[in-house]
Amino acid sequence: MDHLKQSCYELSLPVTEKCNPISRDIDRAHSKQMVQILKQCDAEIFEKKINHDPFYQRLHSSPVIQTMVDVAKGVEMMLRDPEESLIVLSGCGTSGRIAFLLVKSFNEMLNAQRQKQICSYIIAGGDRALLTSQEAPEDDPVLGARMLDKVCAGKKYVLFIGISCGMSAPFVAGQLDFCLNHLDVFTPVLLGFNPVHMARSELIQDCSFHFKDVAERMTAEQRHKRAFVLNPVLGAEAISGSSRMKGGSATKIILETVLLAGYEASFRDKIMTPECMSAWITASEMVYETTYSHSDELAALIQKAGESLQMKAHVYYLGWQTLGIIGMTDASECIPTYGADFGDIRGFINNGFSEMKNKEGDLSSLGPEFIIGHKDFVDTILPSLSQNDMILFLFTVNDDLHEVTMLANQLRQRTFNLHAIAHDLEKFTIPERVCNMFETVLNITWPFSSEKDNSLVTRQHWELSTKLCLNAISTGAHVLKGKVYMNYMIDLRVTNSKLYRRAINILQRFTGCSKTECESALLRAIYSTDDLAEDMTSADVRKHTDVANRRERVVPTALVMIQCSCIYAEAQRHLDCYSVIRDAVNACLNSIKSTVD
Ligand code: F6P
Repeated sequence: MDHLKQSCYELSLPVTEKCNPISRDIDRAHSKQMVQILKQCDAEIFEKKINHDPFYQRLHSSPVIQTMVDVAKGVEMMLRDPEESLIVLSGCGTSGRIAFLLVKSFNEMLNAQRQKQICSYIIAGGDRALLTSQEAPEDDPVLGARMLDKVCAGKKYVLFIGISCGMSAPFVAGQLDFCLNHLDVFTPVLLGFNPVHMARSELIQDCSFHFKDVAERMTAEQRHKRAFVLNPVLGAEAISGSSRMKGGSATKIILETVLLAGYEASFRDKIMTPECMSAWITASEMVYETTYSHSDELAALIQKAGESLQMKAHVYYLGWQTLGIIGMTDASECIPTYGADFGDIRGFINNGFSEMKNKEGDLSSLGPEFIIGHKDFVDTILPSLSQNDMILFLFTVNDDLHEVTMLANQLRQRTFNLHAIAHDLEKFTIPERVCNMFETVLNITWPFSSEKDNSLVTRQHWELSTKLCLNAISTGAHVLKGKVYMNYMIDLRVTNSKLYRRAINILQRFTGCSKTECESALLRAIYSTDDLAEDMTSADVRKHTDVANRRERVVPTALVMIQCSCIYAEAQRHLDCYSVIRDAVNACLNSIKSTVD
């Protein structure tokens, strides 16, 4: 594909789907280089300008900060009238999981102050989506609206925050549309990371509007302060489209800031100023810097995790409290992003569901994916644990270090492939004997402040730091496993309409063929056929993604079929010759290049 065609193609994509030039060669990087690449990509979250797009609003831009102040005022109003009010955070995939985490922490803080817990979360697919990938409900705007209506029953005032990093999820569009139709009760906020004109404009099935329509209506209402759009641009993701990374981190930073600011205004009479919003963001930037200053340990952890995945072994995160949630969030997203198996990277939390305190309670009867307690890990995984499996403890000095030591001791009887990310404070460090139990310890010592309520902010910083590390570890490990080509998730699972479009985009990107040709190859790969029957071509995207959900290597198969002009069986044979997807894709793209040369 010539450069001109390629850059026109890139230009047509929203920022959140673009290829980041910084990480273009991440697939050829070793672990230390990967850390530097990810560090540079994450730095863009806080940059005031990105060279090639100086016009977009950034996290530090005044209009964004001002909108944060406005939304925080909304939080304050809800807190001042707790009987009649509700704050709802909603999203799909990682966006919904971050919503859950924030709501849980905020409600716990309110509870500790003997205040009513007025925050609620919605995640597409319900609580099972907190732990496993459930992409199909993301496509359903009616379901989104229905769930919102149910949660808000009887409330007079609702501040609704719909999170869609790519400004694309129909589930969230349905909810925002519902709010816009009931502005007497709802104040809707859209949080995403594209300019409004780049919001998704593809028609939503069985629906009269698309995401962009809703985003434009929101912008119009913002003039009257009846709705708000918070959409700073963060630059493209390190792995194209992987909004769990920068998108998820920025979601956490922004919403924690507005929730806390609203809280302080309501209960401490603090005045909300743009300066205090900026200061909170700057504090998160310090977290980013401190975390990446441990790049050697981070690289070592990436290397270990990569080796485990390369050997078809596993990576297990054993986290305490909210770090356990950060671990499960990171693990669950590897399935759609890298076509990973649920067992490849898994998260566990101390005390399982009683620590999670999710709405639907204990889900362990739903199957092995829902076994999440440390005790469950000991009972079900430990007996068959191998030396090749990597175990990563996630804890802080505030956790029960006796429990940490006991569990580590128990595991060390079976394996020494034991590592840790451990946070402590200048005045309260984790004893050396605890750190010595682990082969690699990424130990971050944070400044201590005795200010009241600082413990929540400290905890939030530890969560962010752990998120950055785990995103780097799981991304790096999958890169080392060969699941990434350049910086594209070449083996993604095509399980909803966004991922279906992304798959076509990837095929177009590498083959230079038209959208129609690429879609046809994708469908042939999905239906495992060379002759698409009428009922296949006429079926809707929902049907395609339903079938694709049960197929392996869909995008690589389609790519080989196009590049080598071969039939389905031949493409499968080509892929079977390689144990690593990237090698198979590489060989296929290079063979065509050399024939042309
Ligand atoms: O469809 C799956 C997914 O891409 C997840 O990876 C992501 O966390 C989720 O959708 C939500 O995306 P967005 O926040 O852009 O709506």
